Amino acid sequence: MNKNTSTPYRRLWGRAKGKPLSRYQAALVADKLHGIALDVDAPLAGLRHYDNIRLEIGFGGAEHILHRALEHPNTGFIGVEPFLNGIAKALAGIEKSKLTNIRLFHGDVWKFLENVPNASVDHIDILYPDPWPKPRHYKRRLIKQDLIAEFHRILKPGMELHFASDIPSYIDWALLRILQHGGFNWDAQCAADWQTPYAGWPSTRYEAKALREGRTPHYFSFVRKPVIKDAAATI
Ligand SMILES: C[S@@+](CC[C@H](N)C(=O)[O-])C[C@H]1O[C@@H](n2cnc3c(N)ncnc32)[C@H](O)[C@@H]1O
Repeated sequence: MNKNTSTPYRRLWGRAKGKPLSRYQAALVADKLHGIALDVDAPLAGLRHYDNIRLEIGFGGAEHILHRALEHPNTGFIGVEPFLNGIAKALAGIEKSKLTNIRLFHGDVWKFLENVPNASVDHIDILYPDPWPKPRHYKRRLIKQDLIAEFHRILKPGMELHFASDIPSYIDWALLRILQHGGFNWDAQCAADWQTPYAGWPSTRYEAKALREGRTPHYFSFVRKPVIKDAAATI
């Protein structure tokens, strides 16, 4: 059982491994991953000296996290990804740009979350989570009430959750659940608010494919509501 969440481990859907790693990638995983892999028992331990902490869940080819880590050298980044080839890409980018502000967790977000303290993270990105577009596969989607509750638990009040998707049924699904949770403000006023990429957005390989195939990116930002003093619940 997860210590904080009292929920059983989930089954991991999707790929854990793709095409064989190149020799260079395999050497990076063997030699470098342990140096920047975070300790799941104390996930924020090596990041306390950063101004703030930013988490990306399911970073895929690592385009976004690498870009943001270069852009914000005083922020500590955590990338969570079960797909080994994604981990290898992140390691290659970290080596190339000599980044020191990224820690990686190779595995399931639920395992990572076990020991993350309450109100300890300044930003969460979940960008193009696996869409599982067939109704019979909706239950495999990562964004569910329990994960949203975890986002709320670990985010500092006033800080942002970013969710991007190109799949209309996932967008409806996620918006409904995030707003139903009640702990997030969604300040969008008009369609331009979710049609406009996030500031400094570098795009990703997944997004480029979605655009080629005629799907429209949507970029949502939610703000973790402050805790109302003396109120029994966080609203
Ligand atoms: C569609 S890809 C998008 C990748 C990237 N965010 C992008 O925009 O290019 C979804 C990613 O989520 C990862 N993922 C799937 N299940 C996950 C889980 N349980 N915990 C963390 N990441 C997961 C997948 O391995 C994959 O890399």
